[in-house]
Amino acid sequence: MRIDVISLFPEFVAACAGFGVVGRARERGLLSLHGWNPRDYAEGNYRRVDDRPFGGGPGMVMMIEPLRAAIAAARAADPAPARVVYLSPQGRRLDQALVRELAGRERLLLLCGRYEGVDERLVAAEVDDEVSIGDYVLSGGELPAAVVIDAVARLQAGALNDADSAAQDSFGAEAGGGPGLLDCPHYTRPVSHPLGDVPEVLLSGNHADIARWRRRQALLRTRARRPDLLDRAGLSAADRALLAD
Ligand code: ADE
Repeated sequence: MRIDVISLFPEFVAACAGFGVVGRARERGLLSLHGWNPRDYAEGNYRRVDDRPFGGGPGMVMMIEPLRAAIAAARAADPAPARVVYLSPQGRRLDQALVRELAGRERLLLLCGRYEGVDERLVAAEVDDEVSIGDYVLSGGELPAAVVIDAVARLQAGALNDADSAAQDSFGAEAGGGPGLLDCPHYTRPVSHPLGDVPEVLLSGNHADIARWRRRQALLRTRARRPDLLDRAGLSAADRALLAD
């Protein structure tokens, strides 16, 4: 998969590209990342990329042409068609279903806004999806772009060392597209510690019991913390029995 990032601060995104799962996905040739700075495509001595909003009001708006030229340069760098995703608080809220959708694309072009946003004509002409990472306002699209990159990188086949761990993560188990459950708790050595002991079932070696315990913990935790997810998950009779235990 190829991801192009259009940003006034491409270093911001590059910083996340060298570590952990994203770094490994790149080393394994599963993901390539390319930054494009609209300022490099801006005209004049000042290389201006933003201007005051028509109608007045505070802040600045990113101008059409530097962004359009940066998008065109990114598109021209590779013949694969790119899905243009604009990170903005007005977008569709990112969840694991949308991550899966984006991760399945051959190529994404992530457009990061700054200031008050991007001239709406550019959004209308170039953007395929507008995506928000949550109901709060950040000062730019770079952190949201890094979030999208991390979330889609882990879903590239071969990116994770333990093939199962993506499916078992919170939200992951329902590959069919439902909202999924929160993850169960995890423990490692030592077995006994002043802060508590590891639940015995996890030491039993009985894989069926362990799987049942983990599923029940995930169900209990989801009911306590995110009942909205449980409502949407559509529980099986076995799940309902586990919750009733
Ligand atoms: N840009 C600023 N805030 C954002 C958010 N919450 N999600 C995506 N892009 C943003």
